[in-house]
Amino acid sequence: MSPLDTRRATAGAGPVAGRAAARQGAAPDDYEVFCAGVARLCPIDLRRYKRAQMERRIRTHAARSGVHGLDRYLEVLRSDRAELDAFLDRITINVSSLWRSPDQWRRIADDLVPRLLASSPRGARSIKVWSAGCSIGAEAYTAAAVIRDAAGPGVRVEVLGTDIDRRILEAARRGEFQRAMVGPAPQDALRRHFEPTTDGWRASDALKRGVRFAEGDLLAGRVATAAHDLVLCRNTVIYFTPPDRDAVHARLAESLRPGGFLVVGPTERVASPAAIGLVGDGPFVYRREA
Ligand SMILES: C[S@@+](CC[C@H](N)C(=O)[O-])C[C@H]1O[C@@H](n2cnc3c(N)ncnc32)[C@H](O)[C@@H]1O
Repeated sequence: MSPLDTRRATAGAGPVAGRAAARQGAAPDDYEVFCAGVARLCPIDLRRYKRAQMERRIRTHAARSGVHGLDRYLEVLRSDRAELDAFLDRITINVSSLWRSPDQWRRIADDLVPRLLASSPRGARSIKVWSAGCSIGAEAYTAAAVIRDAAGPGVRVEVLGTDIDRRILEAARRGEFQRAMVGPAPQDALRRHFEPTTDGWRASDALKRGVRFAEGDLLAGRVATAAHDLVLCRNTVIYFTPPDRDAVHARLAESLRPGGFLVVGPTERVASPAAIGLVGDGPFVYRREA
């Protein structure tokens, strides 16, 4: 089961409604009209992403596609499926790589995995991981490889990757990574869990068996409570508005079992950990309170 209920948030609920209310009486500008139009075409609500950078990105992309004006560009997106796909590729920002941010993987292997096994409610027989905003799957496969090696034989490692971008999940399921998508991976681990291809690496069948992918919107769902030992959410909420980022962190915390860990990106932090049942546990790591 996916930890995320992918149904859209109820109209009128949440931080977007709050901001809309604050603007009551003001006519929506062209960007707001565009965002509302896009929300009817695909499952992405652009109003919940930081406006300045998203708007700049969209206007630049539209201009490069030869269309000036968001109203005209919305018309193009309504009638041209290929352009809608190109637009979604542009705004979802899928940059990722195997062993991205190696310090974090070392911390997970040397510190978090032993502590998860010691506190496991399942008798240290399995570790359940959620890669939230998984993009091409590099984070999910790296998690499976690193945690298997750290936990040793006899521990089942199950990794679920979710992303809002249906097309990127097709790439994630293939598990193929060009050389440029491989970070500073330890060569022995890379060779143990991946097979060389002509231009990079492919996840081995054994690694793939422990990793699955599902579509899900982090901004719009309910999560399965206490379902995971470890949640990775790196380089994804940085694009959300602060209230939406905080709401996502609260959902991720809810999906952790007591003693489980949330790992955020190296430049990120949880705004108010105590308010959502988390305790800071050194750089970029938060522990779910018992
Ligand atoms: C920059 S990638 C991060 C990939 C990986 N976590 C890493 O650190 O390498 C951000 C991913 O977040 C996804 N994303 C953006 N908004 C999302 C949402 N509302 N729900 C789920 N995923 C989302 C994008 O599609 C993209 O694949």
